[in-house]
Amino acid sequence: MKKFFIQTFGCQMNVYDGQRIASMLTGRGMAQTHDISDADIIILNTCAVRAKATDKVFSALGRIRRAKKPDALFGIVGCVAREAGANAFKRIPELNFVLGPQSYHKLADILQDPDTKLLNIDLGGLEKFDEMPQMSQSPTVAYIPIQEGCNHCCTYCIVPYTRGREISRSFEDVVRDSLHAANTGAIEICFLGQNVNGYRYTDPSGKTYRLSDLIRAIAPLPEIKRIRFTSSYPTEMTDDLIDMFRTEPKLLPFLNMPIQSGSPDVLTRMNRPYELNLYIDIVDKLRVARPDIQISSDFIVGFPGETDGDFEQTLNIARQIKYINSYSFKYSPRPHTAAALMPNQIPENIKAARLAELDATLNEIQRNFNESCVGRTLECLCEGPDKTGRHLVYRTPYMQQCIVAANNDAPSLARIKITAANKASLRGEFSD
Ligand code: SAH
Ligand code: F3S
Repeated sequence: MKKFFIQTFGCQMNVYDGQRIASMLTGRGMAQTHDISDADIIILNTCAVRAKATDKVFSALGRIRRAKKPDALFGIVGCVAREAGANAFKRIPELNFVLGPQSYHKLADILQDPDTKLLNIDLGGLEKFDEMPQMSQSPTVAYIPIQEGCNHCCTYCIVPYTRGREISRSFEDVVRDSLHAANTGAIEICFLGQNVNGYRYTDPSGKTYRLSDLIRAIAPLPEIKRIRFTSSYPTEMTDDLIDMFRTEPKLLPFLNMPIQSGSPDVLTRMNRPYELNLYIDIVDKLRVARPDIQISSDFIVGFPGETDGDFEQTLNIARQIKYINSYSFKYSPRPHTAAALMPNQIPENIKAARLAELDATLNEIQRNFNESCVGRTLECLCEGPDKTGRHLVYRTPYMQQCIVAANNDAPSLARIKITAANKASLRGEFSD
């Protein structure tokens, strides 16, 4: 039996793509291996959002070249494939395939004709969703892409180049995939998209469906107990969607809505043209709709031209909104983006110092929130055992990790009393 090795880097969309690729290869009679030297085909499913992510892929390829069986096929799929294109073959001539995020279903061609070099970085839209077989079993948390690509064109972001213009899947396809996930083991559905709350699909009769329609359509499925979606753009957080947090208890009280910076000047240069007051109003409305809602953000520090005063405004907004579970990054200039060509690029040491300061602030907020959960009982979803096998890792409704002593008949969805907290996680015990 032929074996495949796949390693996924980056966002949830990539995790989903990786699962589909694995199920396609399994469906063709191949077995998954975690040992590169044993694999007949090696796939790196890649992320290009920051330069470090791209560098990681090329250094991994260098290692794979030495470790793989001589006749094993290897290549890259995803955003680095689209970013590097034919140059990937120049850097690593032995590569067998380079397939962009919307053409990885063409991987089947290389299996048929292993002697060719396969390059396809076209933006083929939604074809891949139709061409790949459904997964026979769903993970407990089913990630279901509902739209791909992004029209926002933030000046730092390579995603509109690698994943293309925004395109929404049909309402029927998303509902069909959700039903399939529910029937094959999913307990939580997470709708995915680079601009997920921009979902907009018009059917042939002219009826338009938004994300709120999708949530309303799948909420009655009895197997599905938790619903969430990621990543949201602030100004697409329309009232119909905010209202879902009031009316739909299965929607988790947690929302990732990146602000990126607290400085109006930086936001303008980022081409994120929303007023801070508008953002704050949206958060206020969400808190009225669902008083216990928690918000998370992505931040970029050291964007070209960012002054100490701009950065101070970012710290202020982080404290004001009290973001939990956030991600913060040093600005990384990317090809195909406008910000890479802007003047006043910030030196690395300043970026590093600002990142450390922001992280300290975010960690303190997170620790306070985690500590405020001690004594509460929360319904949590099991993700599986930890590395030691002696504990189970659960996720709270606010996406915190909660560690519980392993127990053979532990339910997937359990009421857990939180007994302790630190910056990164919670500890708990089963409650009746
Ligand atoms: N809405 C998208 C976000 C894509 S990138 C999605 O979830 O699919 C994820 C995060 O990476 C962004 O929110 C931003 O904070 C960060 N990011 C994007 N481009 C970056 C760059 N050039 N340098 C540093 N961080 C970046
Ligand atoms: Fe990137 Fe901005 Fe879209 S961060 S994915 S261009 S909303």
